[in-house]
Amino acid sequence: MAFKTVGVVGCGLMGSGIVQVSAQSGITTWVREVDTATLDKGLARIKKFLDDGVAKGKVAAEDRDRTLANIKGTTKLEDLSGCELVIEAAVENIEIKRQLFGTLDQVLGADALLASNTSSLSITEIAASTKRPDRVLGLHFFNPVPLMKLVEIIRALSTSDAAFARAQEYVGQIGKTPVLCKDTPGFVVNRLLVPYLLDAVRVLESGIASREDIDNGMKLGCGYPMGPLTLLDFVGLDTTYFIANIMFEEFREPRFAAPPLLKRMVSAGHLGRKSGRGFYDYSK
Ligand code: 3HC
Repeated sequence: MAFKTVGVVGCGLMGSGIVQVSAQSGITTWVREVDTATLDKGLARIKKFLDDGVAKGKVAAEDRDRTLANIKGTTKLEDLSGCELVIEAAVENIEIKRQLFGTLDQVLGADALLASNTSSLSITEIAASTKRPDRVLGLHFFNPVPLMKLVEIIRALSTSDAAFARAQEYVGQIGKTPVLCKDTPGFVVNRLLVPYLLDAVRVLESGIASREDIDNGMKLGCGYPMGPLTLLDFVGLDTTYFIANIMFEEFREPRFAAPPLLKRMVSAGHLGRKSGRGFYDYSK
């Protein structure tokens, strides 16, 4: 049975993308933010993406209007009570997530699924903060959500077959391709991507090549859409540093250890595109 009503907690970069793709698939999509100003900012991001899509001839004006009409913003978690699935895309803090899941568990109907978009925290640990750990799983989207075709579906130790199958139906309904994986640090994509990004920083740090040549090497030599340092700026150096630390803590393998240059750039506030400066300058 198709999903009719879905909720998203958090309307930041990832949350707003998830809201957009759900609403675009005809699903009534509730989105909850902590305050009206943050909510309005997230909703404006969705509108801009759709307006740009119309201007590029990629989105029909009526589809944009229909999508926006399917979105319901709120600052109250209780308003998500009628949702069949709620996807959490809040800050990457285990305590905040455990609190949110504990509250959502009380607010939602007994059959509803709860998912986290976390890129690195344990789904099993999040699930344990609810009384429905069999209906908790991970739905990991990729940035920019409306353009990236993948969603990783992560099975916690406690996730039931029925919940895992239902999550796959949702991913199909929104037109994305699923990758199924177990609850391990970094899942599939970040397990492979993060050591690669860290290695690119190590190559730069050791003076082997310039940032442009490192990026061109992987773009032109391997056909990647972005070089690793450009991708680091795109994802956020702080985000990558955070994920690397969690993976290093769990695996204790040097390839997951953040290189000193990455740590220092984060300390200096050179976080990539979002701060105007990372490996490249975005201030203009
Ligand atoms: N609405 C609809 N379509 C749009 C659009 C919009 N607002 N904006 C762009 N598009 C379309 C374009 O028309 C184009 O379509 P086409 O291929 O049919 O011509 C396509 O989207 C690509 O857009 P652009 O041409 O504007 O941009 P690029 O070709 O430069 O691609 C990109 C941009 C998709 C971001 C590409 O550079 C890319 O794939 N980069 C890598 C991104 C990546 O790796 N993301 C994952 C990060 S890791 C992560 O998220 C996990 C986390 O846990 C860290």
